[in-house]
Amino acid sequence: MDNLVRFAKDNDIAVITIDNPPVNALSPGVPEGIAEAIAQIDSDPEVKAAVLMGAGRTFVAGADIREFGKLTSGKPRGAGLLPLLLSIENCTKPVVMAIHGMAFGGGLELAMAGHYRVAVADAQVGQPEVKLGLIPGAGGTQRLPRLAGVVKALEMCSEGKPIGAAEALKFGIIDRVIEGDLLTGAVAFAREVSGKLKPKTRERSEKLGAAEQNASAVETARENARKKQRGFHAPLAAIDAIEAATKLPFEEGCRVEQKLFSECLFSDQSKALIHVFFGEREVAKIPDIPKDTAALPIRRAAVVGAGTMGGGIAMVFANAGIPVLLKELDQPALEQGMANIRKNYSSSVQRGRMTQAEMGARLALITPTLSYDKFADADMVVEAVFEGMTLKKQVFQELDRVCKPGAILATNTSTLSIDAIASVVVRPDAVIGTHFFSPANIMRLLEVVRGKETSKNVIATCMQLSKKLGKIAVLVGNCRGFVGNRMFGPYRREAQFLVEEGAGVEAVDRALVEFGMAMGPLSTGDLAGLDVGWRIRKEYRHLEKPGVRQPVAEDRLCEIGRFGQKTQAGWYRYDENRHAVPDPEVTALVRKWSAEAGIAQRQQIPAAEIVDRCIYALVNEGARILEEGFALRAVDIDIIYLNGYGFPAYRGGPMWYADTVGLKKVYERICEFRDQHGELWEPAPLLRQLVEANESFAQFHKEPIPA
Ligand code: NAI
Repeated sequence: MDNLVRFAKDNDIAVITIDNPPVNALSPGVPEGIAEAIAQIDSDPEVKAAVLMGAGRTFVAGADIREFGKLTSGKPRGAGLLPLLLSIENCTKPVVMAIHGMAFGGGLELAMAGHYRVAVADAQVGQPEVKLGLIPGAGGTQRLPRLAGVVKALEMCSEGKPIGAAEALKFGIIDRVIEGDLLTGAVAFAREVSGKLKPKTRERSEKLGAAEQNASAVETARENARKKQRGFHAPLAAIDAIEAATKLPFEEGCRVEQKLFSECLFSDQSKALIHVFFGEREVAKIPDIPKDTAALPIRRAAVVGAGTMGGGIAMVFANAGIPVLLKELDQPALEQGMANIRKNYSSSVQRGRMTQAEMGARLALITPTLSYDKFADADMVVEAVFEGMTLKKQVFQELDRVCKPGAILATNTSTLSIDAIASVVVRPDAVIGTHFFSPANIMRLLEVVRGKETSKNVIATCMQLSKKLGKIAVLVGNCRGFVGNRMFGPYRREAQFLVEEGAGVEAVDRALVEFGMAMGPLSTGDLAGLDVGWRIRKEYRHLEKPGVRQPVAEDRLCEIGRFGQKTQAGWYRYDENRHAVPDPEVTALVRKWSAEAGIAQRQQIPAAEIVDRCIYALVNEGARILEEGFALRAVDIDIIYLNGYGFPAYRGGPMWYADTVGLKKVYERICEFRDQHGELWEPAPLLRQLVEANESFAQFHKEPIPA
């Protein structure tokens, strides 16, 4: 027998062990090995029952995701498992599945084909396929409702969240939680059930509810999926497959599942989500910084500025168990900052996300202060004072004076040059950008900005620390706006241009929300505050090229005091609950300003054009960033956009989306826009080169971010 699957006997109990490190994936050889073992059990009169388990740290954690990624057509593998699972169910001796670690995806499907399941207390089971744009493909959607009931199966298959052993026991997915050694417990259990009934999951129907109940459960699940996973196809496909289980005999249900599984497998959404899955791992790799580069221990931190960002960043450290000093200018600002933090934690307690005791422990880790006295203890300081070069330089000179040698001096600036800030300290190698996103304690993205002199250890430390802080870090170069905001500029510029050319404010937002963005670009402006960009534009006005069109509307809105949500008026009007209401006054004003500026107006602009203008503006700027080396890979840009800007994961990020559309098509559309709107739409040279070479962004690799 193939040594991926081992066969042994404990007197009358056969023990089948899958040994395919690291996660016992069901790759070729494993199903064959299991089939042989089952045949042997059937034919060996000595064997009364069998235990099937995984060697090493887990049961079967699922299929090999790389295999999915490689498939572009042909027969999907899931179907190949169906006959094996039937043969396990048909085995004449009871088969007990013994679970530790994870039984995910194909792993749970395998487990459900056993006659019984036992698990250790910390084991987890789940059907997480939807996270990769897939559904279970080996009978999971048919067996799970028969074991766990329709409602639980709908939830597990459409949301993809795993559950622990206790819950699995409660819902009948497992039959016993084993205390102590799994093998010993499972063999004893097998002995108990040997000679007893061999329930076949596929033949069970007691948990399949009445038609009416099922119909309403299915409808509720669909509504939830449409709301919580807007735009994702796989959750709806999983629900369809489970609906089939409630209506059709097992074999027919499996055929429905197969069809839906294949559709998902060959869909753009699944390819995009698999790209994201690997992308999240890829971004941690920095070509010139080997994995074993020494990271500095961060035991104590400090934050300067307790405003919107500083307060959130202090919470991020406290949430990770790292004591943090929080410094402000004066007592009222400090008290306000601490009050905001308390309010934030209290609302988590109220929502049941945290206990009162946990809140107390986290608050105890944050020490408010008005002085730099204890800064010498900090291993890392994050500066989050107002955005202004003079002020930042003053703060860094102060930090240089008070911080110990080796401490990391990080800035949360969103627009200023890291090198300029580093120029005022005697240890520029310690200076780095850690660009958190608002709200800092919630948003997953962290742009780590590499300055000219930032040391490799400092970079390695921030990249590693990000994991402890619950963030996904992407290393970027020091250009204006870094990667995310630099691209966001042209994106929001186009949104404004479109309104100035005649599109409705809501029409622009709606088109992008329908594309999948979490929020429309104009609503986003209102949320962040239109005045923020206005102030920055005023500072950089001298850099604007004469004769090149600039958006006028947002500056004008700011001039009349419409800063967005904070003034209850921006692109929209806001009621006291910050609920947006369209404002005809804005439309009238923009029409007037556009007429004055001589901008040609159209009655209506199609949604597809709105999407192309905004999204291709992102892509074109992304291409420049890549070419200039401010992002390491196209996937780094994608991960930034998915985690910091609400780009839909099922489209894989802006660069992946462009690859999916086809770069030639994207390039031609950009050329069209250039002909209509002028040089702002000049296609990025890299885009043209890739089109000429018939390559994609995903294939483009460049050397490290220029220091
Ligand atoms: P904020 O205005 O809410 O807070 C700044 C705080 O710094 C104020 O409370 C102020 O009293 C304090 N401060 C000023 N000088 C100080 C000093 N010498 N010592 C101690 N505290 C001092 O500003 P916000 O929004 O938190 O921005 C902070 C930084 O984060 C800026 O560089 C900004 O560009 C950046 N940023 C802001 C984002 C946002 O969405 N608000 C997102 C990402 C970065």
